[in-house]
Amino acid sequence: MSSIDKIKDEILKASSVSSDELEAYRVRFISKKSIIGELFSQMKDVAPADKKAYGQSINELKSLAQNKFQELIKSLEGSGPSIDPAPFDLTLPSAKGTLGSLHPITITRNRIIEIFEKIGFNVSDGPEIEDDWHNFTALNFPPNHPAREMQDTFFLEKDPDIALRTHTSSVQIRVMENKEPPIRTLCPGRVFRNEAISARAHCIFHQVEGFYVNENVSFVDLKQTLFHFAKEMFGKDTKVRFRPSYFPFTEPSAEIDISCNICKGKGCNICKYTGWVEIAGAGMIDPNVFDNCNIDSEKYTGFAFGMGIERIAMLIWEINDLRLFTENDIRFLDQFKSY
Ligand code: PHE
Repeated sequence: MSSIDKIKDEILKASSVSSDELEAYRVRFISKKSIIGELFSQMKDVAPADKKAYGQSINELKSLAQNKFQELIKSLEGSGPSIDPAPFDLTLPSAKGTLGSLHPITITRNRIIEIFEKIGFNVSDGPEIEDDWHNFTALNFPPNHPAREMQDTFFLEKDPDIALRTHTSSVQIRVMENKEPPIRTLCPGRVFRNEAISARAHCIFHQVEGFYVNENVSFVDLKQTLFHFAKEMFGKDTKVRFRPSYFPFTEPSAEIDISCNICKGKGCNICKYTGWVEIAGAGMIDPNVFDNCNIDSEKYTGFAFGMGIERIAMLIWEINDLRLFTENDIRFLDQFKSY
């Protein structure tokens, strides 16, 4: 019995500050081979009359050792680096991220570029603020052409030689001034015209100009290029028609219609019940334009075309108001996430 008291004393005094000491405690007092375990195996040598009292006191000793063990575990845990219980609920589902999307004009521009890139066009860029030469004069605009009038063009008040470009044909001039044929390039960009804003017109919109200059380029090349584009853009059943037209910088010139992709040519309010919608202007580059850019007009010929990106986007998605593109209404823009 005296050794039981001694062990009891030892247990009560025990403390541990490290996991090694805790393990030492476990081995000495808790494990099967501990001194308490030893006391249990001595049971068989105890006189029958004392067995009950002996059993009781070693059982008490055992639970004392175990309680102390739990205490020591707790105090060791508490002394570790203090970690706050999570200040938030880790099991909550994460907040939904809002998906952005490209603007429909960007999506359409990229598609147009993709189609022409596959048939050998690259992309060129030019300034939005232009001089009269690149926007008009080099493009063979006669001095009194109505497009130069104040109602169409935003001129700089202090210098009427400077204007916001009214079309991306200005880039055609810049490229031809700086490169030798063959040239096959696309010029996408913003253009500006002094027009009242409505469902069908805007003072800022986007165009893609494309042109090809080489020896022996003919009207057939122009037709085939635009046929290919129309079918790639609007589907293989799309029909294309060329109507004679006039542009100062092309001769002959044409306006390009496609069969209305909304009513499939049957007639609807988008095609004003004609079955056709206009998508581009085009023509063979006027020799005067080559001369203005120091390109030999005896040797080279070329075609050019220009189209409005808004118009194409409106046809693809049946958008009936041009203003939607610039109003930044999330309810509108949200609908292009899957493109
Ligand atoms: N620049 C013309 C426009 O803005 C379009 C066009 C481009 C026509 C090239 C013919 C050739 O209306």
